[in-house]
Amino acid sequence: MKIDLITIFPGILDGPFKESMIRRAIDQGLVNINLVDLRSFTTDRHRQVDDAPYGGGYGMILKPEPLFAAVKHLKTCSGSKHSRVVLLTPQGRKFNQQTARELSAMDHIILICGRYEGVDERVRIALVDDEISIGDYVLTGGELAAAVLVDAVVRLLPGFLAEEASARESFSEQLLEHPHYTRPPVFKGMEVPAVLMSGNHADIDRWRKEQSLKRTMERRPDLLEEADLMPEEKAYLNQIKKQS
Ligand code: 6GU
Repeated sequence: MKIDLITIFPGILDGPFKESMIRRAIDQGLVNINLVDLRSFTTDRHRQVDDAPYGGGYGMILKPEPLFAAVKHLKTCSGSKHSRVVLLTPQGRKFNQQTARELSAMDHIILICGRYEGVDERVRIALVDDEISIGDYVLTGGELAAAVLVDAVVRLLPGFLAEEASARESFSEQLLEHPHYTRPPVFKGMEVPAVLMSGNHADIDRWRKEQSLKRTMERRPDLLEEADLMPEEKAYLNQIKKQS
């Protein structure tokens, strides 16, 4: 997969992909992440990427010409037949795990980091395939949103997660995680649940699944409406509902 990020502040995106798991994915060749400075697609002497809005008002608007030139260039370079052009904007559809999965199947994604004040409407009309927001709050620009999206998408690429972790993914995607413990067995008087040290893997699996369901019911009951649960999971939920 190739991901191009078009931004007027490439420095913001310099850090997030240089560490940890995403870096490893890049080093392994699972993904090629390319930062593109929008300013390098200007042709005027002042290298102007934005301008005042027609009709007046606050803030600057990203001009269409450099964005059209950048996307055209990146599509040509990639050689990919199917490039998805995504604008990061608070007006977009809300990003979630399903969208991450959908994007992880593409071979080329071009992310345009909008600025809060906006992007010329003709970019939306004629350049962009998809508009995405990462939640109902306002950021100064799309760069941090793009970093979130890239992180969520890259971890779903085939070969990124260990096989066992991928197999668990569909279950854990729909529910909250169970509690985790590591050494020491007692810390400040708090004990690790005995079942986790029992060595009985069937019991451990059941405990984890139950904790996961319980936690989801307490904190995010909305997720349970969507989750496709096994009959025994539904039975367990009914049981804890009765208890409470
Ligand atoms: Cl994608 N951009 C901006 N500027 N703010 C946001 C956002 C994106 N998603 C949530 N808030």
